This record gives sequence, structure tokens and C-alpha cells, in this order.
Amino acid sequence: MNPFSYGTIVKGEFFFDRNEELERIVSTLQGGNNLVLFAPRRFGKTSLVFKAMEVLEQQGYKCIYFDFFPVYSIESFAELFINAVRKKEANLNKFVQVLAELVKTIRPKLTFDGSGKAEFGIEFAENKVSASTIANLLDLPEKNAESRQKTIVIFDEFQEISKFDNIGFENLLRSRIQQQENVNYIFLGSKTHLLSDMFNNRNRAFYNSAFQIQLGALPEADTITYIKERFEKDSINITDESAQYLISQAGNIPYYIQLLASEVWQYSINTYNQISDEIIKICAEKIIFLKRDYYFELFDRQSVMQKQLLKALAIDGENIFSSAYLKKHRLSAASTVQKSASVLLENGIIERSGSSYFIGDPFFKKFIVNYAS
Ligand SMILES: Nc1ncnc2c1ncn2[C@@H]1O[C@H](COP(=O)(O)OP(=O)(O)OP(=O)(O)O)[C@@H](O)[C@H]1O
Ligand SMILES: [Mg+2]
Repeated sequence: MNPFSYGTIVKGEFFFDRNEELERIVSTLQGGNNLVLFAPRRFGKTSLVFKAMEVLEQQGYKCIYFDFFPVYSIESFAELFINAVRKKEANLNKFVQVLAELVKTIRPKLTFDGSGKAEFGIEFAENKVSASTIANLLDLPEKNAESRQKTIVIFDEFQEISKFDNIGFENLLRSRIQQQENVNYIFLGSKTHLLSDMFNNRNRAFYNSAFQIQLGALPEADTITYIKERFEKDSINITDESAQYLISQAGNIPYYIQLLASEVWQYSINTYNQISDEIIKICAEKIIFLKRDYYFELFDRQSVMQKQLLKALAIDGENIFSSAYLKKHRLSAASTVQKSASVLLENGIIERSGSSYFIGDPFFKKFIVNYAS
């Protein structure tokens, strides 16, 4: 079996490091505070929070994980949220009772299949779910909390709530949360600039409402050790220098390190027992080759200005609005670059870290350097 894993939440032996961050998350929640976890795409937020959930559940906390990514309407939020809370309740009848009392405009339905097993469903009493229904619904975890059992609600891809500005979701949620005694929250998401604004802008409801943790890259020395050990299990050697080369080819981003290492393992398993930089290079090229149609289409879809900026960012991303940068990369006015940068950020193609910008996918970056003209 391939010792590297990517594209899913990593657990068990596939997960390494993050001990300090894990302790910090756990202690913040134990202290009864809310927490927000920032990191660019694919740095390992969800996996880390799942690990924290395991620890907290062992200590008797009830953890409700809710992902905003599949939510496409306020009705779908209601349905998915109810189900996420229900999944954690052992007593279905009691849950139905609590829901019915709390939210009069949503009717729980219990049907029984042939074997007598209860199936849970809901019916909306309103044509359109109203803000007051959502306000009541947000208290569902609080109302279900057993006496003294603390509950933690994890909102993943939390920045997506801005889709529901029309019912003032952000303010609604903040006001409910403030009144709850048994529930604490972990917020995380991959659009760092949006999430950061929610928690750091004085005019926003969530301003200063949660302890903030910024997740960086995994420490290089630990990653090297991990890569070496994983290959060694199958009697494949890789030097520290080559492991370092692999990490740099993958832009030092956890997901892409696993993707490239997995490809290198696949390439070597029955043929080589020593990994060279050459093998790593071949595998990186192969990843780009396999994704070339997607990369081509993605690049082609950008405006002329966005393409120019992407080409410049593929080379360097520091001080991109300075006149030296604009001149060096033959870009037009700073205001135009600003506009292109915000579109690319919005679409998740580029990321910002402090004042520097970078292309999120290191293989797309190489594709731009090598092929895009
Ligand atoms: N601590 C870790 N140990 C090993 N691999 C990791 C670790 N953290 C992240 N990864 C790698 O990164 C991938 C993405 O992790 P995860 O989905 O948790 O990140 P994310 O930040 O939530 O991503 P997204 O922005 O797509 O939601 C994993 O599938 C795994 O390959
Ligand atoms: Mg995630």
C-alpha cells in the first residue's frame, strides 16, 4: 500500500507533527473559548481539527463537525445542520422532541422501514426559511447539550456564510453564540483573507470573538524524517537532500508533498531502492502532464491582466504593487494589478501571506513557467 495519502482527511500513521498546534486547540476549547484556525488551502486544517476532535471526545466533549462547502441555500443549511447535530445524539426520540419545541417552522418526521428502523427527515412549514427559524435552529446544539456535557461545534469553510448576507447570517450567528453556555466553536476555512477580515475587522460581528491560530507549513526537518521513514518501510532509501528537494518541488505545502511522494513511491516501488533527484523531477513532470488539460483550461480562462500577473507570480511574489515589481514584470498600473490579484484570490488560484502573494498549486506554477506563453 502506498505509504503517502492525499486528498482526504489524514489520520493515524498518515498524520504527523502539529503537536503544539493540537495542544493549543485543545487547551483553548478546554478553557471555554472559541477558536479560529487560518491557513491557506491544503495545509492540513481539517485533518488537524479532526485530530483535536478525537482528543476532545476522549475527554467527554461532544463534537459536531459542520462543513459549509456543500451548503447552497439557507434551506440546505437547515437540513444539513439538523443532521449534523442529530448524528451525535443517541436518543432519536428525545432529539425530535427538542427540535420540535425549539423550531416550530420545521417539522421533524420519523418514518419506520420494514425492519422497524426509524428514519429521520424534516419538512419545512414555511415556503422560504426565515431568519428567525435559523436563529432558533442555531440553538439546537445548546438545547441538546446534556447537563454539564460541553459541546463543540466545528464550522469548516466558515467564510462561505457570507453567501447568506441576505438574512444577516453572520450577525445572527454571533448573537446566538454569545448567549450559549454549553457550546464553544471552532471556525476554519481556506479563504484566509475573507476569514481574517471576519475576525479582525472592527465593523464585523465576529471581531475579536475567537482565539486565532495561524497554521504554517510543516517543519522541514520533521517532514524529511517522515518521508524517509515512510520510504524505508519498503526498503527504499532517500537522502535528506533529496527529501528536501521533493519538499521544495511541492512548494512546501503538505498536500502537494504527499501527492509528489506518493507518485515517487509508485514509480520506484518495484524498480528502484534509491530515490534520486532525477526520479523526483520525472514524477513532478508527470503530475503536470496528467493535469495539463485542466491547467491549460484554467490559465486560458483568465483575463489578459490576470495571465500577466500569474506569470509574474510564478517567478516571484514579494511587493507586487511596488513600481520596481511592476516595471520588472511589465505590468500596468498598481490599481489594475490590485484588481487582478483580488479576482485571483477570490477564485482561490493565488494566496496571500502577509505582503507576499503566491500561486496556491506549485505544479500549476511550474506549468505556467514551462508552458504558458
Ligand atoms: N499533519 C499532516 N500529516 C500528513 N499529511 C498532512 C498533514 N496535514 C496535511 N496533510 C496532507 O495535506 C492534505 C490536505 O489536508 P486537509 O484536507 O486536512 O487540509 P485543508 O487545509 O483542510 O485543505 P482544504 O483547504 O482543501 O480544505 C492531506 O490529504 C495530506 O495529504
Ligand atoms: Mg479542509
